[in-house]
Amino acid sequence: MDIHFEKVKQVYQPNSPFKFRALTDITLTIPEGNITAFIGHTGSGKSTLLQHLNALMKPTNGFVKIGEKKILPQTKDKNLKTVRKKVGMVFQFPESQLFEETIIKDVAFGPQNFGLSKQEAEKKAAEALRHVDIAENLWNHSPFELSGGQMRRVAIAGVLAMSPEVLVLDEPTTGLDPKGRCEIMEIFQHLHQEKNVSLILVTHLMDHVAQFADFVHILEKGKIIKSGTPAEVFANTAWLKEKQLSLPNAALLSLKLQKKGILLNPLPLTMEKLVEELTQKLSQEEANE
Ligand SMILES: Nc1ncnc2c1ncn2[C@@H]1O[C@H](COP(=O)(O)OP(=O)(O)OP(=O)(O)O)[C@@H](O)[C@H]1O
Ligand SMILES: [Mg+2]
Repeated sequence: MDIHFEKVKQVYQPNSPFKFRALTDITLTIPEGNITAFIGHTGSGKSTLLQHLNALMKPTNGFVKIGEKKILPQTKDKNLKTVRKKVGMVFQFPESQLFEETIIKDVAFGPQNFGLSKQEAEKKAAEALRHVDIAENLWNHSPFELSGGQMRRVAIAGVLAMSPEVLVLDEPTTGLDPKGRCEIMEIFQHLHQEKNVSLILVTHLMDHVAQFADFVHILEKGKIIKSGTPAEVFANTAWLKEKQLSLPNAALLSLKLQKKGILLNPLPLTMEKLVEELTQKLSQEEANE
């Protein structure tokens, strides 16, 4: 299911002195089966844009097409249930939305709400909990007994239990340590690889952009100012500096190596690639000696 934005504008509090244009003329297509990242400074409109992906928000002007469903400014909330089921949203700190007495009930809540029987919903919940690696002996415990990282995984299971075709992730690893971040990103990557779920990710971690994204859009003051593959977007380091945007750590390290006379071109964007290219360069130099 592709998602297309056509000249989308979003104005908050339109008829008040606080009127604020959060998105301006956004036209883009997010193709099915891809991992797409959105980056940009705080307040650039990333979360506003994400809320259009399952019609939580409707454009002030323009339209969003989610699969076959066209969302216009006047589109009514009824008839949006199918779209909302297909596009799962994981907001920042999703664990704050846990509320049921037990983990299994919490995860089964969504599918049950969408019409499955208790038994069917719990089957979906069990599958999702296995996917996020929450041990079965915990399922009848309260979600509030868990560690922060586990709570986040349970909250994510609640979204996965709806079997979404598209998963929208707004800074999904905020507040986690590096190990927790890695575990969460692995869950999403597996889902993408095994079930071909499209991922749409907002992150300020350029390493995640480089490692996971097929395509990146950069937002500034509600506009898309650059789009491309990570290699394309990270190629112009002077432009990124001007925009005060960072680079992946491997590229930053490569720039330091450049100053020591070790030139790697194009800049490697992941540590794996950096090690591979350095090894190759060093063996070439050894062979030439
Ligand atoms: N409900 C609202 N009413 C008025 N203005 C809003 C509202 N929600 C967001 N805004 C404004 O719209 C702009 C874009 O906000 P948004 O949350 O989309 O940015 P963001 O890129 O997600 O930022 P962050 O990185 O801090 O999460 C900001 O200037 C914000 O203050
Ligand atoms: Mg945000």
